[in-house]
Amino acid sequence: MEVPIEALGDWERTHDCGTLGADYIGQRVLLMGWVWRRRDHGGVIFIDLRDRYGITQIVFNPQHDSAALQKADQLRSEFVIAVEGVVESRPEGMINSKLPTGAIEVNCDQLRTLNTSPTPPFLIEDEIDAGEEIRLKYRYLDLRRPRIQQNLLLRHQAYRAVRNLLDEQKFIEIETPILTKSTPEGARDYLVPSRVHPGHFFALPQSPQTYKQLLMIAGYDRYFQIVKCFRDEDLRADRQPEFTQIDIEMSFVREDQVMDVAERLTRSLFAKLGKINLPDPFPRLTYHEAMDRFGSDKPDMRFALELVDASVGARASEFKVFRSVLEDGGEVKGINVKGCNSFSRGKIDGLIAFAQDLGAKGLSWIKHTDNGLESSIVKFFPEAAQTLLIKALDSEPGDLLLFVADQPAMVARVLGALRLELAQRLELIPADSWTPLWVTEFPLLERDEEAGRFTAMHHPFTSPMEEDLPLMDSDPGAVRARAYDLVLNGNEIAGGSVRIFQRPVQARLFELLAIGKEEAEAKFGFLLEALEYGAPPHGGIAFGFDRLIALLTGEDSIRDIIAFPKTNKASGLMENAPSAVDNTQLRDLGIRLA
Ligand code: AMO
Ligand code: AMP
Repeated sequence: MEVPIEALGDWERTHDCGTLGADYIGQRVLLMGWVWRRRDHGGVIFIDLRDRYGITQIVFNPQHDSAALQKADQLRSEFVIAVEGVVESRPEGMINSKLPTGAIEVNCDQLRTLNTSPTPPFLIEDEIDAGEEIRLKYRYLDLRRPRIQQNLLLRHQAYRAVRNLLDEQKFIEIETPILTKSTPEGARDYLVPSRVHPGHFFALPQSPQTYKQLLMIAGYDRYFQIVKCFRDEDLRADRQPEFTQIDIEMSFVREDQVMDVAERLTRSLFAKLGKINLPDPFPRLTYHEAMDRFGSDKPDMRFALELVDASVGARASEFKVFRSVLEDGGEVKGINVKGCNSFSRGKIDGLIAFAQDLGAKGLSWIKHTDNGLESSIVKFFPEAAQTLLIKALDSEPGDLLLFVADQPAMVARVLGALRLELAQRLELIPADSWTPLWVTEFPLLERDEEAGRFTAMHHPFTSPMEEDLPLMDSDPGAVRARAYDLVLNGNEIAGGSVRIFQRPVQARLFELLAIGKEEAEAKFGFLLEALEYGAPPHGGIAFGFDRLIALLTGEDSIRDIIAFPKTNKASGLMENAPSAVDNTQLRDLGIRLA
């Protein structure tokens, strides 16, 4: 049966659905919202009415108004209604102390059905098991879930807090172009064809990096922007093709001053929005130490399981696998999985497969029992070598020791990932633990073996460390950058650097990156030229705003804190983007599809 839709007429809301409590008993109110749940208790109908402020229970009672009750009988999930009635206290035993409105209900005598809805493809509940695909297709329904609404509310509060905090420190917000030129942050560009200039393309910014440096040259001193960035790269739970940065740049500063601003901003946001007290100051590790001890440049410091060098013990052994790696200039490292020597063969095989999937040639293990070390490889370890291993890994009976022998990059990759995997499986990560960390002294350059050349590890405007300048010619791979990343619980939440502000240094870096004079001129000529006109020393940082909000709301995926996110395949399922375009549009743009 078709449910008649009624006009809003002159009805006006007196309250929202999250406000009414015991103080309002006896008042006449008018509420509007969505039908969440509807229950029929022997002729009495209860509706949970929902809006973004909360839920209020509405009662339709036959003794009170049978016309309203009859209409209420036709209400279904997600109908939009307006109700008028009197606030009453709930009967004894029906009070819901979990709901802010749980002490009352509205006894309805006037009902208008403002709109109907087909049965939604999934329940609008916080804990739903609907697949993400269907949720993204009907994102406007998914966005009705209270949890996502809370997330977006917190995100809104974070924008406000960031703007206030930075404004108080004399930062000014300046917008930079979206239709721009390629900005190198290591991903592919999203391109926009120009109709006016056939065959020419804008690139969407991977970050406002060049513009914010130009603003420093222009004398703006302290800039920030909450800004969309676009990167065509492989997507994961913490990566979107378009995402938001809190972008910051400052003049006349060194690393410490930028890091101080970033640190205070982070501490304030977590205190204000999450009631979380972060340490003051944040601890620091060099890149080298982070890789060495944790096998990662964004180590999760909430638990130990550190990587230790077992090369001395390995060298004293007759184990060919280890010795040949050492002879090839590799290393042997291990982790001590405390108290896990009872791991079954199956479990250990699982770990070996995990390591091999990451590229390890193998994973060796030793169980430390009351009778000493036990494993098929122990026979290759004379007493002295065993003692060295035990000492290096600080091992005692009960422990399980895992080893990888390989070149340092592979050892770090495998043991770093194994460390995280074990921490999860063994539940070593304490709840409500917040461990920020600065990682500093990144290498300036990274060797791209395939292309046979260096690429910038951060971006090509990052300044080398002064004391490493002589290495620029002799050993470029060893030059350290004035770059820093902020890591929280193993997530990279911000990254930045002190910049090159002298043209010759910038030109030299382009050379090292095998960017020829002409290419440098064509791509960054404007910046190189600007550097000549009195560029001040400057530096900055950018936060991954979405990652910050995901951490603050406890969501695993940044898709849950973005109103309209893209899928892992970089598409919008609801609006069906990207999509094909008309031939006329293509013709106007001078584009023919291959
Ligand atoms: P960087 O490339 O490190 O630095 O980016 C800064 C921060 O942005 C976040 N981030 C992302 N978040 C979601 N999806 C993505 N695809 C994504 N990519 C990066 C991360 C990262 O720490 N211009 C420099 C900053 C500077 O030097 O000042 C830059 O963009 O949290
Ligand atoms: P294999 O000589 O390949 O049979 O390996 C002997 C043992 O050493 C097996 O248990 C392998 O898992 C382990 N192993 C092989 N290569 C490595 C390596 N690179 N690092 C650690 N253990 C390894």
